[in-house]
Amino acid sequence: MAYYRITGGKPLHGTISVSGAKNAALPIICATVLTGEKCRIENLPDIEDVHSILMILEDLGATVERPSTDVAIIDPTTINKLRVSMAMASKLRASYYMLGALLGRYGYAHIALPGGCPIGERPINFHINGMRLLGADVRDVDSESTPQQVQYALELLEPGSEVSSEEQRSGFVIASGKELHGGEIFLDMPSVGATINIMFAAVRAEGRTIINNAAREPHVVDVANFLSACGATIRGAGTDVIRITGTKKLHGCTYAIIPDQIETGTYMIAAAATKGDVIIKNVIPAHLEAISAKLMECGVEVTEGDTGREFFLRVRAKERPRACNIRTLPYPGFATDLQQPMTALLSVAIGSSVIVENLFENRFMHTRQLNRMGANIRLDGRMAIVSGVEKLYGTEIEATDLRAGAAMIVAALMADGTSIIRSIIHIDRGYEKLDEKLRALGADIERVEE
Ligand code: UD1
Repeated sequence: MAYYRITGGKPLHGTISVSGAKNAALPIICATVLTGEKCRIENLPDIEDVHSILMILEDLGATVERPSTDVAIIDPTTINKLRVSMAMASKLRASYYMLGALLGRYGYAHIALPGGCPIGERPINFHINGMRLLGADVRDVDSESTPQQVQYALELLEPGSEVSSEEQRSGFVIASGKELHGGEIFLDMPSVGATINIMFAAVRAEGRTIINNAAREPHVVDVANFLSACGATIRGAGTDVIRITGTKKLHGCTYAIIPDQIETGTYMIAAAATKGDVIIKNVIPAHLEAISAKLMECGVEVTEGDTGREFFLRVRAKERPRACNIRTLPYPGFATDLQQPMTALLSVAIGSSVIVENLFENRFMHTRQLNRMGANIRLDGRMAIVSGVEKLYGTEIEATDLRAGAAMIVAALMADGTSIIRSIIHIDRGYEKLDEKLRALGADIERVEE
């Protein structure tokens, strides 16, 4: 078990570069299955979730080469299994992307229900309904299914295949459909996962699919760009209506992942929190407008620059931030993934802030940890009322999930004294070389392996 020891109060100064986007890399790795040819994926972040998803591909029989930590060459032609086991699926949320990818390519997929951060109920009903509309027979089981429902789902199992009683209890999905066809889908919410998973099934289906109320996140566009580079016909990614014309064959390609907007936002907040002056390279400023606007509202200076070769952002703060209100929304609204680190910053703001979490009902676990450091945060359902305090004090805290971990890092960097952050396995899932990058900016952070 590793933990971080951080002594706060040191302003961050200097330049860092962000890694490739986790939430683009994970579905793009899964999408290589759809191509049936070798693909070279570049600018991959070196994080646990990427290691896990590549392990899932290898478990299915794909061949993965890693010429360097930011590149994977994936050959899906050796896939000989269409099932993601419970042990594999529980490693990360994005394992659900294998449902659309395997169904689209092979007409069959059997996936144990995915793991991921415990930030709410996180159903996958939109994914399943979408695939049914494309003609797939999809049968799902969860912890509340009756024995009859379990039996009905098991009838779709491939001959010779079995489902352990543990997996039956925790849940699984089997999808079958050799002849998928296009269809028109309306998502009740612009779900990132459902938009991408339906896109996966649709690129190999016969005819045209329209996804209405689609998610508009930059990583949805990146996945669509990858699939287009492999020969798919996708129009409208980045808007709320995506049109896909299915094709019988996709080919391999070389593709570089976009920079991580959440990692960038986290370093922007950390720079502001420590009253620092940081230049963040390898960013796409347009993806960061919501966080930039909120930081500026708090009195932080955010400027964009262009070296001619790449864009960068400079974040400078001299004083305690002013309070501001936040409502998380699907892109281009304020990202739910940045709500947690932003709460840490606002805990020391001048005045009171109201934070409303609209996407995930249980994404406030970090507030308890912040209160242990001296913050004054009161919860009321999906709302957090943050009364700014002058300072936080270092203590032993826990990263209860990935972005709660980012919030703990921000809090510890600005706190008086030393903090110990435990359960950093969650942070490892999404942040590449976090301690090295922060040390390069002057932070007093040490990773201790127990
Ligand atoms: C993805 C990201 C996660 C990010 C989130 C929102 C990955 C692996 N994870 O999660 O980091 O915080 O987007 O940007 O990329 N919903 C349903 N039914 C469904 C699907 C979603 O009700 O079938 C609801 C969810 O409960 C949530 C909302 O829709 O309230 C948005 O969820 P979604 O965008 O799908 O998030 P995830 O794919 O779980």
